[in-house]
Amino acid sequence: MNSVQAFGVSDDRRPPMNDLLEVAQRGLGASPKRLPSWLFYDERGSALFERICEQPEYYLTRCELALMDEHAGSIADALGSDVRLVEYGSGHAHKTSMLLQHLHQPVAYVPVEISADPLRQSVQRLAREFPGLPLQPLCADFSKPLRLPIPPRAPRRTVLYFPGSTIGNFDNREAAVLLRKMRNEMGDAGGILIGVDLKKETALIEAAYNDRAGVTAEFTLNMLVRLNREIGSNFELSGFGHRAHYNPMAGRIETHIVSRRAQQVRIGRASVALREDEAIQVEYSCKYSLEDFAALAAKAGLAVLRVWTDAQRMFSVQYLVRASMVAR
Ligand code: AVI
Repeated sequence: MNSVQAFGVSDDRRPPMNDLLEVAQRGLGASPKRLPSWLFYDERGSALFERICEQPEYYLTRCELALMDEHAGSIADALGSDVRLVEYGSGHAHKTSMLLQHLHQPVAYVPVEISADPLRQSVQRLAREFPGLPLQPLCADFSKPLRLPIPPRAPRRTVLYFPGSTIGNFDNREAAVLLRKMRNEMGDAGGILIGVDLKKETALIEAAYNDRAGVTAEFTLNMLVRLNREIGSNFELSGFGHRAHYNPMAGRIETHIVSRRAQQVRIGRASVALREDEAIQVEYSCKYSLEDFAALAAKAGLAVLRVWTDAQRMFSVQYLVRASMVAR
């Protein structure tokens, strides 16, 4: 029998309207203007992100899937038997099946996802695919401290799985804080299996965030659609464009919403002035060399034990453990 635990409190990552208004007012009142990237992921934004993953230019998903296809067996061997697998931001958990197929006597799979619908759907699918595997879904924001469900039996280790290079959406300081939180959650014997996009030719990276079909542009501007709907702002979509360029010094794609003309936008009771060409920073997508990422991991008290890459070395999956567990 599959043990599908009852869902925790459903939290759709939709803060109350006042919070959202405050976030927008604070970000648009700052200099330079910025809005947080979690605002992308309402229902339409999440669907658009799924479509981004299918675009020919967006190599990240394709390369990570190819990597898992080739190396899932050796990854499972490295994690060892009797693992409790906890996935951060599991979404539809597309890559997870490839790993679960190879894990040796897994104790439980704990998908942690803030949106209740994809969580429910993925658990239903996995319950059919892996009838003997205990599933313990947790509807929660992985960036906050988690209270993991009690496992059905004692695991040898807890492995936190964080695919997709979502770590790249955090700046260096925030990423180190998140990795340190993960280090605490996984315990002494635990590990982190993390997808990390690698540095490569600028043109390839920039193309991934400027697909020809314009899906990424639609995804970016959907943030304004969301604000108009949820806080009653009056962004006129035709007055804004999407811009994503690679900053080689910082090693990251920097995505902006750019005002096409001088204009005023109403945000609650305030009016925000935008100059022609003024940019609102909305997302970073950091790219790493293997050395960069090892240095970031070290800042969080972690060491890289294994690295797998796809054949073209575009993307990596890395296994991190506590630095103190690695013999010097
Ligand atoms: C979720 N995250 C890893 C994506 C990325 O590549 O930074 C989000 C994204 N933004 C634009 N395209 C994809």
